[in-house]
Amino acid sequence: MPKSDTTLIELAGGEETLRVVVQDFYDRVFPDVMIGFFFKGLEKANLVQLELEFVLELLGAEGRYTGRPMRKAHAKHPILGGQFNRRLQILRETLADNKVPQAVQDHWLEHTISLRDQITPNTRGDCRPPQP
Ligand code: HEM
Repeated sequence: MPKSDTTLIELAGGEETLRVVVQDFYDRVFPDVMIGFFFKGLEKANLVQLELEFVLELLGAEGRYTGRPMRKAHAKHPILGGQFNRRLQILRETLADNKVPQAVQDHWLEHTISLRDQITPNTRGDCRPPQP
């Protein structure tokens, strides 16, 4: 593992601190009026675990993520650009409220933005489906 990446996880306070942040994030996402419906009937604990693994990898740990590739995991959900943006905003607020160090916030948010076209076909951030 590259030294600088180890530092990002350590800087964030380690795995258990990141678990608290990811749990808080999904505690906000599940009841959200705009995107909560996507998660109806899903096991929150399972998503928290997979998301935590995913975050550990994006912050530099290797071989932690046991979930599906992003495109595959989201393929059956018709996610609009505006809904992607809503998740991003909830993430921003969660990271700030938990006082996650700025360098970790920046890396996490940039990484999320870079995945946009794997999650939604609507890369412009529209809230409505493309019109014919
Ligand atoms: C870059 C942004 C995103 C990341 C990093 C992310 C991450 C993840 C991860 C790690 C999983 C678990 C994968 C698995 O089950 O194997 C997942 C599943 C899921 N995500 Fe996301 N997600 C993102 C964006 C979104 C957005 C914008 C929405 C909806 C507004 C969303 C809705 C869901 C749903 C509904 C599932 C459950 C899939 C299923 O089992 O049917 N995700 N996501």
